[in-house]
Amino acid sequence: MSKKCPLISPSVGCPAGYGFVQDGEKEADDPTQAGVNVLADAGGISYGDYLQLDKILSAQVPQSRVHGQEVHDEHLFIVTHQAYELWFKQVIFEIDSIRDCFLDDSGVDEARMLEVIKRLQRVVMIIKLLVDQVLILETMTPLNFMDFRDFLSSASGFQSLQFRLLENKLGIKSEYRVRYNQSNYRRVYEDKPDELAALEASEDEPGLSDVVQRWLERTPGLTGDFNFAAKYKEAIDKILVESLELIEAEDNIAMKTHLMSNYSKKKEQFDSIFDPEKHNALVKRGERRFSHNALLGALMISCYSEEPRFHQPHQLLIALMDIDSLITKWRYNHVMLVQRMLGSIQLGTGGSSGYQYLRSTLSERYKVFIDLFNMSTFLVPRNLIPPLTPQMRTTLRTHTQDVDESGQKG
Ligand code: HEM
Repeated sequence: MSKKCPLISPSVGCPAGYGFVQDGEKEADDPTQAGVNVLADAGGISYGDYLQLDKILSAQVPQSRVHGQEVHDEHLFIVTHQAYELWFKQVIFEIDSIRDCFLDDSGVDEARMLEVIKRLQRVVMIIKLLVDQVLILETMTPLNFMDFRDFLSSASGFQSLQFRLLENKLGIKSEYRVRYNQSNYRRVYEDKPDELAALEASEDEPGLSDVVQRWLERTPGLTGDFNFAAKYKEAIDKILVESLELIEAEDNIAMKTHLMSNYSKKKEQFDSIFDPEKHNALVKRGERRFSHNALLGALMISCYSEEPRFHQPHQLLIALMDIDSLITKWRYNHVMLVQRMLGSIQLGTGGSSGYQYLRSTLSERYKVFIDLFNMSTFLVPRNLIPPLTPQMRTTLRTHTQDVDESGQKG
């Protein structure tokens, strides 16, 4: 006897009719091996109906065919873009659910954190796939692209609503966008009130970056008896004093000047993580994005990532950086594709300078979690990290739903 697919409720039935044979069952007794689909015979929804393939598979209409000059590669061009849009949809679905977890009044406890990380890692895997998917389109030659490019008229990925929603939901703010994008990004939805409304809602809602920052600000140990910032500052001050003594003892004047200039830069950088005013000035200049306490929370999690209660938060920070760097890799692969198809001078169908505009989007402005990358600047060797107090060690080794001294849930 075959079992029903355990993941699908019995009332729906596995749409593909997949069943499996229990260990030890003989093939001869298994109707699926005899080519009889018992589930299909019992009625229910079919594979094609479940996936609404009639809609999806009838949506590839090459404009070159419509105009009576069908170009073979336009089919690939359409399918590739559609595959991207489907994956964008899944990524947005995951990011929305993750934001909801963080926004929930009951907070992100450890059980939910596991689910959040699994979903973020799923997003990472999808974007990895999207980075490589560009290569499939590179099997099209520029001449073949030229054969149907004019039929695209003004159609451009620049008009992809889902791509903009994704950027906004991750936390890209309008002021981070490069100039061409700031002035034109709304314009493409002017005649589409529903799309414009969705775009505006995504700007107003807190992005993933916002909700993660609020959560980081409540990292246990940031405030209260442990006071991570004060302890870390003490350790850094000691390192700086020792470095200065070594520099002062240096006889070679050129070397001394070089070391002194390095020292001043390092000191200035460290001052900026301990002094909220200096930090906020960097935020104003667009060099930092996180709030001061969120940055300290992330730094603390990175320093003590081996403590059990920080394992998952640390994985979360890594997944966020993965997402940022993979999107940059996608942007890069897309830019290379565009240069291959159009060169560096031709304008895009969306009206931008094409390659030049896209190249400008590779800058740091589009990295939502830039502060997590730059945090390496503030790390010190393990042996210099301030030791945890016994009380703090207990807090970080106890998986608890209880609210601790900082008011942070597990
Ligand atoms: C032959 C292949 C492609 C060419 C020649 C091309 C060309 C371009 C150009 C020139 C732009 C700049 C805007 C403009 O049109 O003026 C652009 C933007 C864009 N394209 Fe493509 N593209 C191609 C494939 C794709 C694919 C497969 C996707 C997947 C969804 C995609 C998504 C986008 C997105 C999201 C933007 C906006 C990027 C931003 O503003 O940051 N493109 N594309």
